[in-house]
Amino acid sequence: MRNPSSPVVSQRIHVRVPAKINLALCVGSRRVDGFHDLSTVFHAVSLWDDVVAVGRRDGRITLTMSGEGSELLPCDETNLAVRAALLLREQAGEPGLGADLRIEKRVPLAGGMAGGSADAAGALVACARLWGLDVPPGELLALGAQLGSDVPFSLLGGNALGRGRGERLHPLAGAVPLHWVVAAAPDGLSTPAVYRRFDELTAHDGLVPDSGVPTDLIAALESGDPREVAPLLRNDLQAAAVDLHPGLAATLDAGLAVGALAGIVSGSGPTCVFLCADERHAGAVAGGLSSARGVRAVQRVTGPVPGPCAAALPVARV
Ligand code: C5P
Repeated sequence: MRNPSSPVVSQRIHVRVPAKINLALCVGSRRVDGFHDLSTVFHAVSLWDDVVAVGRRDGRITLTMSGEGSELLPCDETNLAVRAALLLREQAGEPGLGADLRIEKRVPLAGGMAGGSADAAGALVACARLWGLDVPPGELLALGAQLGSDVPFSLLGGNALGRGRGERLHPLAGAVPLHWVVAAAPDGLSTPAVYRRFDELTAHDGLVPDSGVPTDLIAALESGDPREVAPLLRNDLQAAAVDLHPGLAATLDAGLAVGALAGIVSGSGPTCVFLCADERHAGAVAGGLSSARGVRAVQRVTGPVPGPCAAALPVARV
């Protein structure tokens, strides 16, 4: 795996990894392995965690974190970024490789925007470069899938259809920037808890989960017209997230009241995202939402933006 011409320790590798939102999250039934079959349209947005890897010669892998919610996260081997570095090193068969990882977080913690997955993706890419490992992009995506369902997309970025548990990716066309306002909640939600509530609510209401591919949304995304995209945004986890975090209903209403084209819970929540017509409109929506009850912070972002392994897969027609 090691490229013999590359040094084991280089000075400092810096990788930026974007957050994601799900423009559609179509959730099917719970599988025997506990995961749910999905069709999801991932969209990477301009909110990044920064991962820096600095070489060390004693074979230790350390982590320090700063920024958004970092004081609440462990820095030991239970952190997904450390697990990513350990997995890569094990794969390389070189237990002597070491690194100091530093992460500057901006993606809301437990917010449904794949911040933890972004950190794992950043650690994989930064350590692969630091250690001079020749890891083909497809192999990096496969390692990412071992770490979490969203990690492969964090590596790829852009727009992509995710199937399986979200790890089987087909990059999608649609490079016209969409403008969003992200409203972070004061606290987080547990992804497994939201999926469990989804199971309970669908069973209670006698609904049949449907993980069919949202072809209309994919076509609208290609057109790049936010007014076509807006009515097609869909999140099957939204009812479960709102049920567990009732304040989200007011946040979604507040975004529409200040003129957003549409608003949805991002992934398993509780972050809410609002689609806007253009940059100016996003400024007005952000201003209107900044004083809304239950909104901790408001940010304007655009998407799609590339991930650190953007060229790993060709764009597909779905
Ligand atoms: O893959 P990841 O570790 O991010 O998933 C976290 C949890 O979210 C899983 O343990 C599972 O409870 C839930 N999940 C799911 N179906 C998916 C993805 C995640 O049920 N497709």
